[in-house]
Amino acid sequence: MKKVKVHLGKRSYDVEIGSGAAAKLPGLIKKMGFTGPVVVITDKTVNTKTSHITRPILNKLKNDVVKIVVPATEQSKSLRVFRDTIQKISKKTKTHKPLIVALGGGVVGDLAGFVAATYRRGVPLIQLPTTLLAQVDSSVGGKAGVDLPEAKNLVGAFYQPKAVLVDTDLLKTLPARQIKNGMAEVIKYAVIKDSSFFKFLEENIAGAILLKKDTMEKIIRKCVSIKAGIVEKDELDDKDIRVILNYGHTLGHAVEAASGYSKLYNHGESIAVGMILAGEIAFRLEMLSSKDLERMKKLIKKTVLPVRIKGVSLKKIINSCGYDKKFIAGSNRFVLPKRMGSVEVVEGIPDILVHTVLRQYLG
Ligand SMILES: NC(=O)c1ccc[n+]([C@@H]2O[C@H](COP(=O)([O-])OP(=O)(O)OC[C@H]3O[C@@H](n4cnc5c(N)ncnc54)[C@H](O)[C@@H]3O)[C@@H](O)[C@H]2O)c1
Ligand SMILES: [Zn+2]
Repeated sequence: MKKVKVHLGKRSYDVEIGSGAAAKLPGLIKKMGFTGPVVVITDKTVNTKTSHITRPILNKLKNDVVKIVVPATEQSKSLRVFRDTIQKISKKTKTHKPLIVALGGGVVGDLAGFVAATYRRGVPLIQLPTTLLAQVDSSVGGKAGVDLPEAKNLVGAFYQPKAVLVDTDLLKTLPARQIKNGMAEVIKYAVIKDSSFFKFLEENIAGAILLKKDTMEKIIRKCVSIKAGIVEKDELDDKDIRVILNYGHTLGHAVEAASGYSKLYNHGESIAVGMILAGEIAFRLEMLSSKDLERMKKLIKKTVLPVRIKGVSLKKIINSCGYDKKFIAGSNRFVLPKRMGSVEVVEGIPDILVHTVLRQYLG
């Protein structure tokens, strides 16, 4: 078992990583001295697929346990599901302040985090992430919220958990496409902060995809440490530090949105392409060597993530990033790689360059 501490003064917490980490939940709640009701928020798929691990653990709790199961889709990150969840909690726990456990991927984590941040002006939260993306990224750092029809994550809060339990055993039921989805964010961490980690991934990606125990634990610990380091310096995302976590996301989001959030591209797949597009822009601006760009493409290919854009039109991509408007205002912003482990935030990239690069990788 590995432990990473997120240092945030009074809001500091531990992230416990390893096989069997979820079993620490009853002890943790006892140690916190919490005797009220425990509300477990989860989704339908996680509830079914992980019950062989989670049920015996929840049965050990001395507290009253209330389980709330939401649909296993992004639509659960909505104001409607948020309100329904709050109403259920209020009905079932009456006047007692509950502790919330977020058992699921990023969708459940963001929804449950927002519920914990707002119900009775804040109740304790423990994150128990079940996707690779949630284990390396969304469960740490305190961003919580829901989507509106206008845009994703439009309503939310910063609300740190009391602890995060990253149990690698939970990944065993995760479909391969979801493992790769998380792996795109893993590659992102290596590119933005750690060249030796990038090298480790080049040498170990095959084992990682197959969930080799030691490899996976090392990968998660690395990513969580990198994220913790960034969040510690910029908890509220107002110091231009946390922004580097958006590497690959500017055009990646545009590809994801242009595909209509369909089955064509999931988040990680669009971020994989987005990282290459940003790398190509950096190369053309003579910020990044062709060798480093090639290394990035090779690793993404090895992970069986897309390196080109297919099935989405250029027009749709440009429309979805609202890029033209941003460029006229002179305010587009890209996180661009300089070399493995180092990125820079660059503003005002000419739209002709962005369009040329998009065209180059289309089809
Ligand atoms: N808060 C943050 O800092 C942050 C960072 C990145 C992403 N996010 C958010 O995270 C969300 C995406 O998260 P995600 O990729 O984890 O998606 P998700 O939560 O939708 O999970 C993906 C799918 O995997 C299933 N699943 C989860 N765990 C499983 C398991 N162990 N076995 C079998 N199936 C399992 C889920 O039911 C779902 O169908 C987005 O809404 C995004 O905005 C938040
Ligand atoms: Zn992402």
